[in-house]
This record gives sequence, C-alpha cells and structure tokens, in this order.
Amino acid sequence: MIGFFKSVREDIAAVFETDPAARSYFEVLFCYPGLHAVWAHHWNQWLWRHGMRFLARFSSQVTRLLTGIEIHPGAQLGRRLFIDHGMGIVVGETAIIGDDVTLYQGVTLGGTGKEKGKRHPTIGNNVSIGSGAKILGNITVGDNCRVGAGSVVLRSVPDNSTIVGVPGHIVLREGKRVVITDPKEIRDPLSDVIIKLATEVHEIREKLQEHTHESMGAEPDLSIDEETKPARTLPEELFFEDYQI
Ligand SMILES: CC(C)(COP(=O)(O)OP(=O)(O)OC[C@H]1O[C@@H](n2cnc3c(N)ncnc32)[C@H](O)[C@@H]1OP(=O)(O)O)[C@@H](O)C(=O)NCCC(=O)NCCS
Repeated sequence: MIGFFKSVREDIAAVFETDPAARSYFEVLFCYPGLHAVWAHHWNQWLWRHGMRFLARFSSQVTRLLTGIEIHPGAQLGRRLFIDHGMGIVVGETAIIGDDVTLYQGVTLGGTGKEKGKRHPTIGNNVSIGSGAKILGNITVGDNCRVGAGSVVLRSVPDNSTIVGVPGHIVLREGKRVVITDPKEIRDPLSDVIIKLATEVHEIREKLQEHTHESMGAEPDLSIDEETKPARTLPEELFFEDYQI
C-alpha cells in the first residue's frame, strides 16, 4: 500500500514535469484520466497475477469505459508513466513499458496479428510516443527515443533515435540527422514501385540507344546539355557530417 501511495506521488510529480498545462495538485489528481488508468492498472495487474483473470479483464474494461484507455492487466508498466489526454490508447497483454515514458492520445502498443507468445512491443526508458502512433509486434523501442505523431513502427529502434512516418524510419540518431539514400531502407511499398520504374526507364533507355545505333549507324545523343543543366547538389554535400556516422 505504501508502495502504491509512493507511486501516486511520483506520477503526479511526473505530470508537473511533463505537462506545462498542469496547474494544481487537485487538478492533476482529478482531471488526468491517464493517471486514473495507470492507478487502476496496479489493481488489475494484481488480480491478473493472482489468477483472477476474468475479474482483472472486467475491471480493465470498466477502466476503459471511464478513461478511454485500454491497458491489458498482463501488461508491465514502468514507473512514472504519463498518459497525456488518454482516449484511444491500447496497451497489449505482453507489452512492457520502461520508466519515464509519455504516451499521447491514440497510441497503440499492439500485435501484428501474426505472432503468438510475446507479441507486443517493449518500450525503453524515457521514451515519448506521439499521438496516434502505432507500435506493432514484438519489437523494441530503445531508451530516450521519440516516436513522431502518426507513425507506424514495425521494426526495432536503437537507443537515442527519433522515428517518424509510415512505415517509421529514423530521422535523428544520437542527435544527428540521418539521411536515407537508399529508398529500400524505408521499406515503403511505394519505394518498390519507384525502384521498378527507375529500372524500367534505364532498360528503355538502353534499348532506344541500341535501336538508334542499329538504324542510324550512330550513337544517339542522349546527354544533357551541360550549359542548360540545372546545378545539382549531392545529398553528401548537404549533409556531410551525417555521412560520417
Ligand atoms: C517526432 C518529433 C518528436 C520530432 O521533433 P523534432 O526532434 O523537433 O524533429 P523535427 O521537427 O526537426 O523533425 C525532423 C524531421 O522529421 C519530420 N517529422 C517530424 N515529426 C513528424 C511526424 N510526426 N510525421 C512525419 N514526419 C515528421 C520533420 O518534417 C523533419 O523532416 P525534414 O527535416 O525532412 O523536414 C515531433 O515532430 C512529434 O511528432 N512529436 C509528437 C508530439 C505529439 O504527439 N503531441 C501531441 C500533443 S497532444
């Protein structure tokens, strides 16, 4: 019980640290459904661990009804978890969340639907997950990571990274900008289409060159006039430092 009250105090202090909108102790105590969901989870998890599985599930559904936050009683939450705004948050049964994590509304720590056993993500310490982000599968998001709003993360993320987009890709690592030069790295279905198109254009160009050579007996001039060609800057020149990491 003493442990519970200690964690309540810590949770409230974490809200004051993280949310500039928090004004008074009573406001935080009564107007932050994220805290209520976390506190209810302590009780639900206790029931789950002591074999009262139905009661634990039922109680977590009542909590969801009241807060809009669904945390499976089997999920393991770290200390000072701050769920800002709540509503639409789902934390799966085998999810593990480290200490000092912030979740905004609409975050899902879910399964891909293809795995069994440990099928939900593991989130490190001091991680912030933006609104609407989906982290799916038995992957790990390392310590001190930030996940952009609306991202869909399907691969593990190393410590100290910022990941954004659908599918999620790293844009900042150890404080340095990460430049993606190979579209395959993003693993977007559109990247495959672009790569295919580029290959086809290359093949057509080669065929045209062969054909013109055969019929005219000369190489066609497919080169671009250097004078009219716009100046081109290579990404290496723009982000020289990033290429060193
Ligand atoms: C991901 C995030 C933490 C990055 O913040 P940051 O470190 O300041 O990084 P930047 O804003 O410089 O963004 C870096 C790059 O990622 C892009 N980016 C940032 N957030 C993005 C997002 N959510 N989705 C897609 N791209 C994003 C930026 O456009 C930028 O790309 P560019 O340099 O090619 O233009 C922040 O943008 C974010 O999404 N925070 C979530 C906040 C939230 O959910 N608030 C809800 C409050 S209720």
